[in-house]
Amino acid sequence: MLNLGILISGMGSNMESILKSIKSGETRINPAIVISNKSGVRGIAIAKKYNVKTAIVESVVGESRMNYDMRVVKILKRNKVTPKNGLVCLAGFMRLISPEFTRMYRDKILNIHPALLPSFPGLHAQRQALEYGVKYTGCTVHFVDEGVDTGRIIIQDVVKVEKNDTEKVLSARILKKEHKIYSKAIRLIIDKKI
Ligand code: GRF
Repeated sequence: MLNLGILISGMGSNMESILKSIKSGETRINPAIVISNKSGVRGIAIAKKYNVKTAIVESVVGESRMNYDMRVVKILKRNKVTPKNGLVCLAGFMRLISPEFTRMYRDKILNIHPALLPSFPGLHAQRQALEYGVKYTGCTVHFVDEGVDTGRIIIQDVVKVEKNDTEKVLSARILKKEHKIYSKAIRLIIDKKI
């Protein structure tokens, strides 16, 4: 069975949906470790509730991206989330990943993005979609490569933009779909369908 590492920064609702689907037996992967770059966040409390091991890796001022990532990698490997036996899911992890990390875990790091990539990459994807005036947006799970939200797409789902949507309302509608597709993407990888 693969070992899963989940990287979060805050709310952790995508992480929660993954842990729920593992607990129910629907997604067969070992939840080895949840790592947050911030302490005291909701996601860490939720991971503990699911009895999943947690770690906080706080960034140090002036530290290079590679150095930070290698501290994360050390914890991943210590918990058997290796490039060979592991899968890493970025779930609202608000840091860019270094090329060293992506190269080491090639095709083993996934990310979820709240838009239909390649449209609206980067921050505030839901706001970008509203400002552009698209009628449909959605969410994407993709492999992480060296670019920002540029990796190969694994799965997407569509969300209709309603007339009076605010960023908050639209984000909540997209988030519901995110919770469905992230575990689905993990299952595609487990089942070697991707
Ligand atoms: C989600 O919208 C995700 O797509 C984006 O950040 C948000 C994180 O939410 N990358 P959560 O921490 O999983 O609740």
